Amino acid sequence: MSRGLAAALVIGAALSALAPGAVAYRTGPPAGYTGGFAEPTCAACHWGDEGAVREPGALTVDVPERYEPGAAYDLTVRLRDPGLRTAGFQLSARFADGPDAGAQAGDLAAADSAVMVVTSGAGISYASHAAAGTLPAADGRAAWVVRWTAPAGGAVVFHVVANAGDDDASPLGDRIHSAEARSVSR
Ligand code: HEC
Repeated sequence: MSRGLAAALVIGAALSALAPGAVAYRTGPPAGYTGGFAEPTCAACHWGDEGAVREPGALTVDVPERYEPGAAYDLTVRLRDPGLRTAGFQLSARFADGPDAGAQAGDLAAADSAVMVVTSGAGISYASHAAAGTLPAADGRAAWVVRWTAPAGGAVVFHVVANAGDDDASPLGDRIHSAEARSVSR
């Protein structure tokens, strides 16, 4: 991430705390809100009544149980929420344990234009919805595809968060879901 962009995100965060909706986040959420490794979740800004919720089956990402080192996988993130009118997500892939715990595990890339990937100054890649949020593909459902190229080995943890938005162009009344998945090398 460029220094200018990092500064803009910090200013954006400060502004949105003062005046929600004043800053256009429709171009995608700021990096580092997956809820993993002590990060906050999107609920830091998207206020619902409950904070981030973990409901079995509401937010899923289908990762291989055992990955082939260096192989590329298309991971589908699926969100289901009856209140969903617009949606967004963020996903990270990091080593789960050992000396590299919390470090980037493999590479993330967008499989299509609905997804974008930014890399933080600390070298962690975050895949998110691009632009405009995402309209539901079917009633209360949204999905995104992220291409993950597996690292040389190790246990990987994927943290994923998603916003089931009510499409009122404000962070109020949205539901934030969080989930995690794991994969180990063959
Ligand atoms: C620093 C504050 C902040 C964080 C963190 C944040 N958002 Fe937002 N987001 C906003 C604001 C403010 C808006 C509404 C203004 C707009 O649409 O430009 C918004 C709008 C959105 C929208 C458009 C739909 C809607 O409800 O208006 C989506 C989708 C979204 N955010 C997803 C996410 C996800 C997913 C995360 C976590 C990975 C996240 N956001 C984290 C501030 C934030």
